[in-house]
Amino acid sequence: MRGFGEAPGRVNLLGEHTDYNAGFVLPTAIPQHTRVEVRPATEGFVLHALGRSTHFSLEFPPAEQSAKYVYGCLKELEEQGTSVPPLEIRVSSDVPMGVGLSSSAALEVATLRALRAALDLALDDVRIAQLAQQAEIRHAGVHCGIMDQMASSLAEPGRMLFLDTRSLERHVLPLPLGSTILVIDSGVARSLAASGYNQRRAECEQACVELGVAALRDVEDVNALQRLEEPLLRRARHVVTENQRVLQALHADADTFGRLMDASHESLREDYEVSTPELDELVARLREQPAVFGARLTGAGFGGACVALCRAGEAASAAQSALSRYGGRGRILVV
Ligand code: GLA
Repeated sequence: MRGFGEAPGRVNLLGEHTDYNAGFVLPTAIPQHTRVEVRPATEGFVLHALGRSTHFSLEFPPAEQSAKYVYGCLKELEEQGTSVPPLEIRVSSDVPMGVGLSSSAALEVATLRALRAALDLALDDVRIAQLAQQAEIRHAGVHCGIMDQMASSLAEPGRMLFLDTRSLERHVLPLPLGSTILVIDSGVARSLAASGYNQRRAECEQACVELGVAALRDVEDVNALQRLEEPLLRRARHVVTENQRVLQALHADADTFGRLMDASHESLREDYEVSTPELDELVARLREQPAVFGARLTGAGFGGACVALCRAGEAASAAQSALSRYGGRGRILVV
C-alpha cells in the first residue's frame, strides 16, 4: 500500500482573476514538479516536507501551512467516504514557493495522485483538481478559483491549456508559432496577497449583485458596466476585458498574443490594482527587449513573478538583459 504522485507548478499566460468569475484562463505547466510518496504508518499522519516533520490526525488541522494543504486533501477524501489509513507522507519539490506559480496546487494534486495510487481510488484528473480546490478553500483558508488545480492536474509544459472555468470544457493548444515562455521573479514577496485577493473577490460579487448577473462572465459588453460606481466599475471592466483577451489569444500569432499580455498587465495595474511598482518596472524592462512579444504579472499579483512571451531561442539572453537593467533583485525561474 505505497503510492507515488507528482504534479507540476503552473504559469498563467492570460486570464487573471477570471476563474472565480466563471471566466476563461490560459495557463501552462512549468518544468518544476512536486513529488509525494506515501507509505503505511502505525498511527496518525506524519508529513516530511521542507526539512520538517509534522504529526497530525484528521481530528485537528495542523498549524503549519504546507501541512494544511495535505491535511485538506486527506479530509476531502474522508468526507467523500474513503477510509484513509495511517500514513507517512514524504514531499519533495522544486516548484518555487510564494511567487504565483501554484506550489500549493502542485502539492495538493501530487498528494491526491499519491493517495489515488496507494488506495486504488477511482478519481480522474478533473475530480482530483476539484478535490484539491476544495482542500485549499476549506482547509487552507484561501478562497481560490479552480485554475491552479486544473492546470497542475491537466496542463502540459510548452502547450497552453484553455479552460472555461464554468463548464470545465478545455483544449490543449500550441504556443504561438516561434515563441517560448520566460518567467522571472520580481523578488517582491506577495505580502497583501490573501487580503487583497479576498477583497477583489468580494468586489466582483458585489458588482454581480448590482448588475443582476450570476457571474461577471455573463457580461460581454463593457458598456453594460456603466451603472456601477468606482471601484466596482474598474474591477468588473478588468474581468470583462480579460475574458475577451483570452478568447482573442486562442489562435493569435506571437505579436498579437504579446500585445494582449501587455494589455492584460495594464488592466491588472489600472483597473484591478493588483500590481506593484517593482512588477511594473520588471514588465517594462522585459518589454524593452526586442525578443519579447509581451509581458505581464502572473498569478494573483501584489508581488511575485512576471511572465513574458519571447522569440524561441532568445529567452535566456532577453532575461539576462532585462534583469541587468532591473532595479530589484529578480531571478529567472523558467527559461
Ligand atoms: C490565484 C488563485 C487562482 C486565480 C489567480 C488569479 O492563483 O489561486 O484561482 O484566481 O490567483 O488569476
